[in-house]
Amino acid sequence: MPIDVVVGMHWGDEGKGKIVDVLAADYDVIARYQGGENAGHTVYIGDTKYVLHVVPSGVITPDKIEIIGNGTVINLASLVKEIEALEKLKISTDNLFISDSAHLLMPYHRAAEQKSKTSKAIDTTAKGIGPAYADKTRRAGIRLYHLRNPRLLEEMIAANAAELGIEVDAHSATEEHLRLYDRIADKVVDTRYMINDLLQQGKQILSEGAQGTLLDLDHGTYPYVTSSNPTAGGAATGLGVPPKVRKVIGVMKGYITRVGSGPFPTELGDPSVLSAETKLLIKSPIFGALEQRVRSGLADDHELGQYIRAKGDEYGATTGRPRRTGWQDLLASRYARMVNGVDMVAVTKMDILDQLPCVKVATSYRNGQDRTERFDPNNLNGCMADYTRGI
Ligand code: IMP
Repeated sequence: MPIDVVVGMHWGDEGKGKIVDVLAADYDVIARYQGGENAGHTVYIGDTKYVLHVVPSGVITPDKIEIIGNGTVINLASLVKEIEALEKLKISTDNLFISDSAHLLMPYHRAAEQKSKTSKAIDTTAKGIGPAYADKTRRAGIRLYHLRNPRLLEEMIAANAAELGIEVDAHSATEEHLRLYDRIADKVVDTRYMINDLLQQGKQILSEGAQGTLLDLDHGTYPYVTSSNPTAGGAATGLGVPPKVRKVIGVMKGYITRVGSGPFPTELGDPSVLSAETKLLIKSPIFGALEQRVRSGLADDHELGQYIRAKGDEYGATTGRPRRTGWQDLLASRYARMVNGVDMVAVTKMDILDQLPCVKVATSYRNGQDRTERFDPNNLNGCMADYTRGI
């Protein structure tokens, strides 16, 4: 089957958008199979920096078909805004299609997430992703398909918001969503048939994962994960194609980052002091002194983490949050290779490390007296990374 998948091998932000952008020329179709506006793919259109959240990054390569699959959750207002912004930049969205089985992410999902203690503890993107997928799995979610039936839509909005304890004016929410739907109605199709027809015609398809393996609902560092399956298997369910992928391309950085809470064995520095940091460090005179200490090998872990963050511009594309930074972790990378069946790896941002006199790579973990070379997402608490071959 002429279908390849690009997956993130760690906790997202590996530079998948950049790799898709490079590879896109060789494909006819770029498809997104999971997640929603929690993702942020930064792309440059000429000198203009633009962050795509739901639209596949293939949109910037002319003459491609872009598909947003059934495995995604769609905030209609954000999608329409994204399409309008692209059109303003003269980027055509004529070939963009959205699955009629994709689920709607509604304003009450976001409101519910803002009240949720669990979401706060996980430190989610607060976009309503978890509650939207929760509606889907409790079999009450609203699919784009339902927008064709206003009366049913209004009933579902009223019932689902009530279930979450959020007050809404179901009638005006329905009107608003019908108005937004009008903007994209001609793009909403059964993408399962579309993509399988394209496969039959021998068209080359690249599926683009959002987030990363270690944020996968099943294979990630649960509960500190997202609510979908970014791993390669998710491409089959999230697009409605048979699980017969030709090639899986794993993307990782020379180092690792993580946004939000949860274990991170190779982390540099203390995540609790991150919130005070701003993007401006790279522009301040302090940065020169910091780089000097890093170059001469005098920097401590906190300073190294801070340096990589500033030099690598490691701030959330969606939320602006400073990303936690750490050394490369071969246990995690091998695990990602295993669960995705990675055939080839693209390593990004190696240049960020080029001033460092020494770059570390974790080869085992210690936990008390125990030592392991296996990444076990259920048993990471207390694991300390070891950077020499231990066993
Ligand atoms: P949610 O996807 O908003 O529910 O967030 C769940 C976890 O995934 C949080 O730790 C987020 O910080 C993280 N997360 C979600 N999307 C991304 C992403 O695109 N890059 C990095 N982390 C993400």
